[in-house]
Amino acid sequence: MRDRQPEIKRRADGYSFQVDGRPFIALAGEVHNSACTSEEYMQEVWRRAEDLHCNTILAPVYWEHLEPREGQYNDAIVRRLLDGAREYQMRLILLWFGAWKNGLSTYAPEWIKTDIARFPRTEDSNGVKTRILSMFDTDLLAVELQAFEHLMRYLCEMDGDQHTVIAVQVENEVGVLGASRDYSQAAEAIYQHGLPDKSIALTDERFMCWQYAAHMNTLAKSGKEIYALPMYTNVWLKEYPTEEPGSYPSGGPEPDMIDIWKAVAPDLDILAPDLYTFQFDRIASTYKRDDNPLFIPETRRDKWAVAHLYAAIGAYQTLCYSPFGIESVGEDHSYITGLVHTNIADTNVSSTMVKEYLSLSYHLLGNMMPLITECYGTNRMIGFCQDGIHAENYFRLGDYYIKVEFYHSMNEQNEYIPGAGIIMMNDDQELTFVGYGFRANVESMHRGQQLDFLSLERGVYDADAVWVKEMDLNGDEQYIRMNETPSVLRARYYWF
Ligand code: DGJ
Repeated sequence: MRDRQPEIKRRADGYSFQVDGRPFIALAGEVHNSACTSEEYMQEVWRRAEDLHCNTILAPVYWEHLEPREGQYNDAIVRRLLDGAREYQMRLILLWFGAWKNGLSTYAPEWIKTDIARFPRTEDSNGVKTRILSMFDTDLLAVELQAFEHLMRYLCEMDGDQHTVIAVQVENEVGVLGASRDYSQAAEAIYQHGLPDKSIALTDERFMCWQYAAHMNTLAKSGKEIYALPMYTNVWLKEYPTEEPGSYPSGGPEPDMIDIWKAVAPDLDILAPDLYTFQFDRIASTYKRDDNPLFIPETRRDKWAVAHLYAAIGAYQTLCYSPFGIESVGEDHSYITGLVHTNIADTNVSSTMVKEYLSLSYHLLGNMMPLITECYGTNRMIGFCQDGIHAENYFRLGDYYIKVEFYHSMNEQNEYIPGAGIIMMNDDQELTFVGYGFRANVESMHRGQQLDFLSLERGVYDADAVWVKEMDLNGDEQYIRMNETPSVLRARYYWF
């Protein structure tokens, strides 16, 4: 089976995530940071992920647990994750919490944290040491490489035939916090030389991007030589374009830094946005590029988690969609800390409702995966969700002109999960509609030409993606009006 290893492949005008030789979309969830340290807690996580119909779990591997003493490894957490995922027939995307996590170095082992001479810290512009491991004049890369290679070797041995693990995230939201760059003496000496590519103007943020990208590319490249799994890194996005580097981690693959990262880290297959912002379309369209598929390793777990899912797949052909803190979906409190996490603006949408919609959606879309992924890299599919501003949207899909209207306005009551959907063109005559809370008016793009229904069916796709008709809709019911909860319609048209 080693010839069918997971991979990210180009497909026509897009990308395809290949798992066991078939196109795949990770309908996923990321566990809370500390989850994997408790076997008991993880048992509940797997059960909850199963309720949600997740096919993949994103879970951290902590350097401090993997290598508690230099050169001595403890693979217990990875082993348990493999066992859990296999028992629940899910895939894993492992997050390497190595030298940096959310800018800081909290997951580095004790023997690194306490040896400041061998592993210096970055310094701010006043020469004050931070809690962030520096990349300059240090053994950091050499020792991290050993640990990361150990992990990849272990995965290759334990999972090279089964492919439970389908991708690895290298580090987590890197960048310097509290300063625009590392001002330590060793960093300063390199900074004075400018960037290796002299055609790029030197700025503090670009300098840090170059250094992080080079460090992480070494990890990814060497890791892949041992076991060639897809690798990516994620980004803590700045909230607005004029925000100063250092108030967000300076050096991560921000929207305006993608080109540098692509040039310096070619072995990272994907640069992946942690997409918590309400400006979903702006970010999704920035990270879906010719040289980068959209892949969302973290996103909100409120009502927008449901709505954005349809747009992420239908409009941006994402390879992964993953609400953060997946085991807390359906809870008003974080399942791990007990703190209230419900968004105040969502008070009228219960956590239970979010859970129900997400679970139904993952189930539907999971069954439809072969059909949906056939549309990846083509223009045979659209996806959308309500944004609080527009009550209707207009789309062109092949020769169809489609007006989508949402039933419920996003008023101050805010009592509905925002409407969302995907429409796929199966062939010239047939469309599939999936989603909830919208109606669609379908017309011909061409003046003088009309179309009408030949048939309209409500039904489901079974686990083999085979259409199971539940009802023929005609007469009073012959229009595209989706249910309140996620459902599927299939329409055949004729033209005249
Ligand atoms: C982004 C980080 O990447 C996650 O590990 C986690 O800390 C979330 N933020 C919390 O919202």
